[in-house]
Amino acid sequence: MRPGGRIASGIPAESGSRKCEFIIARCRDEEFAASKPIPSLLLMQPGCEAKTQAALRIFSGVLVGVWRDLQCRLREINNGAASQGPAPMNFDPTTFRLNSPLGKRILAVTRGGDYAHPGEEDAIRLTLGESAGTTGRRWLDAGCGRGGTADFIMRAGWADVSGFDIDGASVDEASKRFTDVRFYTCAVENAAERIPGEFDLIYSFNAFYAFPDQPGALSNLAALAERGGRLVIFDYMDRGGFYDCALARNPEAAHWRPIDAERMGEWLRASGWRLEAIENLDREYERWYLWLTERFESRRAELLAIAPAEAVDYARSFFSEVLAAIRSGVLGGGIVRASRI
Ligand SMILES: C[S@@+](CC[C@H](N)C(=O)[O-])C[C@H]1O[C@@H](n2cnc3c(N)ncnc32)[C@H](O)[C@@H]1O
Repeated sequence: MRPGGRIASGIPAESGSRKCEFIIARCRDEEFAASKPIPSLLLMQPGCEAKTQAALRIFSGVLVGVWRDLQCRLREINNGAASQGPAPMNFDPTTFRLNSPLGKRILAVTRGGDYAHPGEEDAIRLTLGESAGTTGRRWLDAGCGRGGTADFIMRAGWADVSGFDIDGASVDEASKRFTDVRFYTCAVENAAERIPGEFDLIYSFNAFYAFPDQPGALSNLAALAERGGRLVIFDYMDRGGFYDCALARNPEAAHWRPIDAERMGEWLRASGWRLEAIENLDREYERWYLWLTERFESRRAELLAIAPAEAVDYARSFFSEVLAAIRSGVLGGGIVRASRI
């Protein structure tokens, strides 16, 4: 194609310009390029020059970024995450924790919805989209937090969802906001006694790592699953050496137990589950946490309207540490899939 010509989508192809040279340089940075989705059909256009392909790659990345921000904005409006009035501005760094009401509010505004897991709605689609329509409709959300995931699934029409969490304040908030979902305040340790019936699918988004007795939790969840029912756990994975890294010494992460894939297999077998697959999401986790840390900057004005600057900086600094642990290779993410024997 001639410089200055147009490709099929009508994007000007100024292939000799300095801007285009900059784009090509960015695309040669493998890590950057890998983080951008590539519309492969467009890139396969016959006669499409390398420089134009690079420009398309960047263009599509920018579009996806804009689209994600729009989705977040819509979620905020729907969920009312950003509109709960000003928060108390007193902040004590020695007692503040991200799982406090203020910490959860900061995360809801940063993420644009009532989610406390990386990847928000993209992660839900990736993890559970294939189960919609292939299981019965009774699903249980273990460690549901503020209920955003259960509400997303109900609105998508995938299943009728019940959820439970040990944190009564989060469950109260979820029950008020998402009235179609049945929520229970209870720990996984006594969920089988508190929640009636059996479930076709039990899922958990970034809650299993916080369960103090993980083999016991698998047994308790097995008691709530029907025969052949599925278990889907989306969570942090220990890639080896997690407990020696700086993050593990942060008081915020003192209770973290990222999944150890080998022990998980044994625990599942011992508690009545058959391990089907463990999927690796390390690259996705890195991308999602990079996005989250950037959002603390791009959403700073909104965050300062609901929280003191020290609390926002505390949250950003903690998630930068999580990102560093992922990049160092000791922490990752994954999906564990199992079925009830
Ligand atoms: C990071 S949050 C994830 C919340 C939710 N799954 C989401 O993605 O938004 C972890 C949740 O696990 C809950 N949790 C921790 N230990 C628990 C336990 N023993 N039983 C039930 N829930 C627990 C916490 O209260 C918290 O809401």
